[in-house]
Amino acid sequence: MSLPVKTLVQAAANSGLRAVSVRHSSQAPKVALLGAAGGIGQPLGLLLKQDPLVAHLALYDVVNTPGVAADLSHIDSNAKVTAHTGPKELYAAVENADVIVIPAGVPRKPGMTRDDLFNTNAGIVRDLAAVIAKASPKALIAIITNPVNSTVPIASEVLKKAGVYDPKRVFGVTTLDVVRSQAFVAELKGHDASKTVVPVVGGHAGITIIPLLSQVTPSTKFSEEEIAKLTPRIQDAGTEVVNAKAGAGSATLSMALAGARFANALVRGIKGQKNVQCAYVASDAVKGVEYFSTPVELGPNGVEKILGVGKVSAFEQKLIDASVPELNKNIAKGVAFVKGN
Ligand code: NAD
Ligand code: LMR
Repeated sequence: MSLPVKTLVQAAANSGLRAVSVRHSSQAPKVALLGAAGGIGQPLGLLLKQDPLVAHLALYDVVNTPGVAADLSHIDSNAKVTAHTGPKELYAAVENADVIVIPAGVPRKPGMTRDDLFNTNAGIVRDLAAVIAKASPKALIAIITNPVNSTVPIASEVLKKAGVYDPKRVFGVTTLDVVRSQAFVAELKGHDASKTVVPVVGGHAGITIIPLLSQVTPSTKFSEEEIAKLTPRIQDAGTEVVNAKAGAGSATLSMALAGARFANALVRGIKGQKNVQCAYVASDAVKGVEYFSTPVELGPNGVEKILGVGKVSAFEQKLIDASVPELNKNIAKGVAFVKGN
């Protein structure tokens, strides 16, 4: 299993925004960005506006959308930009969207966990998902809003309630964990960062973030000491940024890059260009947990194949085992939130 996954992941690394391969089909994808005026939303909008595969970029936020849209619409790329502000304009923003990217919600401040964001962000994701269920039930939904381990189950439960849930179409965006891992490994080992591939599995918080250093491409040897240092650095990288920003928010620029790379991968999949990305999805890859991030093959219907964790080291297996109860707690909290409302 590990070899084909590596090969596919390698192919993925050579695509996406690293080298956008433009093979236009008859489809003209619409991407809706919810939370478009925020710290992530604005640079992510900029990158999506420059993506030659995006035909229509619909920007939605509860404030400031017209200004962001006016600004982006002056860029000489082909994507049409529309602005949608406030709940009354949400339906039009997401209607007929092929891909919906959601960075709407509050970020962490120093001292907070991602789960501390649950009380504010759970309701935001629930309400957005309820409108998506009506206006655009076939869209691929990429959720950035934290806590991702819970917001993906929340959106899924809302779609289930509405009778339109398709587990192949709902994604938690964990691409930033992959991007960081690739940056840190390349720096440590002197690799070309643009050709370094590191799968990251599990979820998107603390111990649930599991870099598979045994599967790095190009094949790379790490000492036990290196693994013992690198693994927690990757797991705590979000906190590193939160602390460095000292109250001004969390990762926005690296997240925008990661979100644009993932959205581009979804669009390429829709256009028939199958590719592999790590993402947190409904999955049977690991026993005893309903959602798990692994490399998945993306295609016209979203998740075409779950590729699983592949061959992992004993150290990585221990991390996977330890992540399961934590993920189950996060997932149950999200499910209970929707069931109780
Ligand atoms: P931000 O506060 O700068 O921006 C959030 C935006 O969401 C604001 O423009 C706000 O108006 C908007 N918003 C609030 N409620 C909304 C609603 N109901 N509908 C639409 N828009 C709404 O925050 P940010 O730095 O952009 O972070 C956004 C989220 O992304 C946070 O939850 C953060 O934790 C998360 N995040 C996730 C990852 C990841 O890897 N998945 C990485 C970084 C940040
Ligand atoms: C990240 O990993 O940077 C994000 O999840 C934001 C955070 O709160 O750390």
